[in-house]
Amino acid sequence: MQILSILAALFATSAIGAVVPAALEKRAITCVAPGSTATARWTNAAGQACTFNGIVGSNYGKNAAGGDYSCNGRCGAGCSGVALGNFYTQDCFSHDICSYFENASGGASDKNCGAAFNAAADDTIGGFSCAKSNPSNAAVAPSTKPVCV
Ligand SMILES: *[C@@H]1O[C@H](CO)[C@@H](O)[C@H](O)[C@H]1NC(C)=O
Repeated sequence: MQILSILAALFATSAIGAVVPAALEKRAITCVAPGSTATARWTNAAGQACTFNGIVGSNYGKNAAGGDYSCNGRCGAGCSGVALGNFYTQDCFSHDICSYFENASGGASDKNCGAAFNAAADDTIGGFSCAKSNPSNAAVAPSTKPVCV
């Protein structure tokens, strides 16, 4: 509990202050490789299970909300947003894809992607074993949409 308090204080004052202490509970970190296909999964605000198959490291450019989706799957915004490294993980991929399609903002508070944000928090701070070189892809908007059922 004391360690959690210290971490909470640390993150409250850090550049990645959006990371919430509740997300520091133990979760799995699964690495994904740029260039490979992965399935993003999240639950939207309507309670539907959404899935989308995409390429890790793909570059969708900016979405309608102005977010940077230049390195999908990287923990942190785009290819160059604040991060401890270029960590590519399943949970960060799911959060990026959710955010792109749902026009997400506000991290954990987003109604569609907040849970995916929380699931990606441990990857963002501890995904060192998933560090990869960023691919360099031209921005191309996806031609398909998620399936939500
Ligand atoms: C995202 O924003 C665009 C532009 O305002 C809109 O067309 C689209 O329906 C929005 N998507 C969602 C999931 O709200």
